Amino acid sequence: MKLLTLLFAALALASCDNTSKDSTNTPAAAPQESSLSGNVEVLHWWTSGSEGAALNVLKEDLESQGVTWSDMPVSGGGGDSAMTVLRTRITSGNAPTAAQVLGYDIKDWAKINGAVANLNTIANAENWDSVVPEALKNFSKHNGVWIAAPVNVHSSNWIWINKEALDATGGRAPTSWDELILVLDAMKANGLTALAHGGQAWQEAVIFDAVVMSLGKGFYKSSMIDLDTRALGGAKMLEVFRRMETLRSYVDDNFSGRDWNIASGMVIEGKAGMQIQGDWAKGEFVKAGKKPEEDFVCIRFPGTEDAVVFLADQFVMFDIKDSDKPAQLAMASAIMKPKFQSAFNVVKGSVPARLDVADTDFDSCGKKAIADFAKASKNNGLFGSLAHGHAAPAAIKNAMYDVITGHFNGVYSNEEAVKQLVIAVAAAK
Ligand code: BGC
Repeated sequence: MKLLTLLFAALALASCDNTSKDSTNTPAAAPQESSLSGNVEVLHWWTSGSEGAALNVLKEDLESQGVTWSDMPVSGGGGDSAMTVLRTRITSGNAPTAAQVLGYDIKDWAKINGAVANLNTIANAENWDSVVPEALKNFSKHNGVWIAAPVNVHSSNWIWINKEALDATGGRAPTSWDELILVLDAMKANGLTALAHGGQAWQEAVIFDAVVMSLGKGFYKSSMIDLDTRALGGAKMLEVFRRMETLRSYVDDNFSGRDWNIASGMVIEGKAGMQIQGDWAKGEFVKAGKKPEEDFVCIRFPGTEDAVVFLADQFVMFDIKDSDKPAQLAMASAIMKPKFQSAFNVVKGSVPARLDVADTDFDSCGKKAIADFAKASKNNGLFGSLAHGHAAPAAIKNAMYDVITGHFNGVYSNEEAVKQLVIAVAAAK
């Protein structure tokens, strides 16, 4: 309680420095200590076992402060269904306290007059500006106003390999495209589904992210971020679709519609050899009691070792009635605490959204992820994920999804997919 009194005193002082500009609301007034018995309603798509466990870290933290939790789960990785539900809530004037939102979608909410909260009071008091990396702040802030609290950094260019299945191939973890194919062939020959995959557009886009990056950082930037027509329609993109077609041939027949965590389960149980997926997959391995190096191996997708295709889950805070704001600020503050960032991300499989959190409690894959992120940030190796709305706005992302998933499901040949990609992006621009 003493700590809270201090925090609220600091907030009261900080609120004198009103840095608000633009369409977002003025900073919420400093909450009174007694009003901390509020409730937060939180919309998210964390419905797998490990995601639920990570969310519990936040729920319990808030409950210990007297803040109750109303859960609004909307399943579907990538968050497309969650965004549809969120839109309905906002347009009917019934905003939740906070919602999990990714990348460019955050910018879209920020542009809607009066929709989002202004967190500057607490962000200034707690000095978020000096600890959150620029790549994340680019989405958490709108015209100088903090509107979201980043909870993690994930990346999508990972492969999760069953250790026993890898050992049975007699090989080591692949470091090039050719080696990857050799390992997949050997796993197939050993009677496994070599590649565990969930046939949903966003999951195909995750593989696509990694394959594009494996053909060069410059190519990823020009095609996925700059949306350069020559890169989208050129020889390298044809090679991307060839590789996607090759990877497709290692997937079992029942992949259609499968959730990502079910695909992770196939690798965990040794029914499949590997999964190309973001590091939320590691959360599932850990939840199942599996250990890196002993039970599974984590590698960057071959050819992407010096790059991080990143995304960050952020809780956008919405403009809600004044009486509910203290609980909302308590949630934002709890998310940004270094201790919470460590505890949460150890369970979630991700990296802290603050640069000052020690990697002590993380396993070897987590330590690698933290080091990779720091290195990529310094060496121009950090690129937003197309699959997760950090490379381009939703219209472009969805246009690419259609082509990528159409190709994966045999609607387009490699050559047709390249042509369609150019057309789809041009139409969505
Ligand atoms: C989110 C992750 C989540 C994954 C699967 C991604 O869009 O950023 O936090 O674990 O979807 O649900």
